[in-house]
Amino acid sequence: MIFKRNALLAVLATGTLALTACGGSDEPAAEGGLNLVSEGNLTVCSDIPFPPFEFEENGEYTGFDIDLMREIATGMDLELVVQDVGFDGLQSGATIAAGQCDIGASAMTITEERQANLAFSDPYYDSLQSLLVPADSDVTGIDDLAGKSVGVQQGTTGETYTRENVPADTEVVAFPSDAEMYAAVQAGNVDALLQDLPVNLGHTEDGAFTIAEKYETDEKYGFAMAKEGSEELVAAVNEQLTAIRDSGKYQEIYDTYFTE
Ligand code: ARG
Repeated sequence: MIFKRNALLAVLATGTLALTACGGSDEPAAEGGLNLVSEGNLTVCSDIPFPPFEFEENGEYTGFDIDLMREIATGMDLELVVQDVGFDGLQSGATIAAGQCDIGASAMTITEERQANLAFSDPYYDSLQSLLVPADSDVTGIDDLAGKSVGVQQGTTGETYTRENVPADTEVVAFPSDAEMYAAVQAGNVDALLQDLPVNLGHTEDGAFTIAEKYETDEKYGFAMAKEGSEELVAAVNEQLTAIRDSGKYQEIYDTYFTE
């Protein structure tokens, strides 16, 4: 495995488990009320790559979100279909409102702003922000970015945090995806990246980059569904999430991506 294992994340996930262990026990929804965009399928939109949550391996989409979605689809007697989409349209609600997919599984933080346009499942992962810099950088924290540039992903909570917290003369460069951010810092086009910690940790694997600072933003990821008409789907997804936690499958998938 190429991803950093992190004891802190394990602790955070345990907290999530405790929080949601007493979730609802609604009866399974009939498929008719689920209002699926394609019958028999759970059509999932995700901005890929965002490892270890969603990435491509041997020509197939995989990762923490994708594996959870596969379990949820199976539990609902549906076939999983994954579509790679841009994150900004997904988080704004536009992609789902356009009927492109039933659900967004994209390491998406539940925010009040997004809840105006999307319905969210129960939280399934706790996360935080971080600043990634080249290993030989003299930047040790966000204040050192004065007069420098930082890459962010457009439409993300990392972008919002960055714009609210960098010095006035920092250049904030927004990229459509994490892959482009990473390429930019590797090429030396930006001095740092501000992104969700688990994803930035992956970028430290080869030793060329390091985490300069972490930000306890208290974020929780949720699966995103249509604001209107998704009541049964939300209930069914939450029911599956609870079942997956109870059966130990959540922990098994978690351990695949986050523990030794
Ligand atoms: N958690 C952050 C947010 O919700 C970043 C998510 C980006 N996800 C992705 N698959 N690109 O804004």
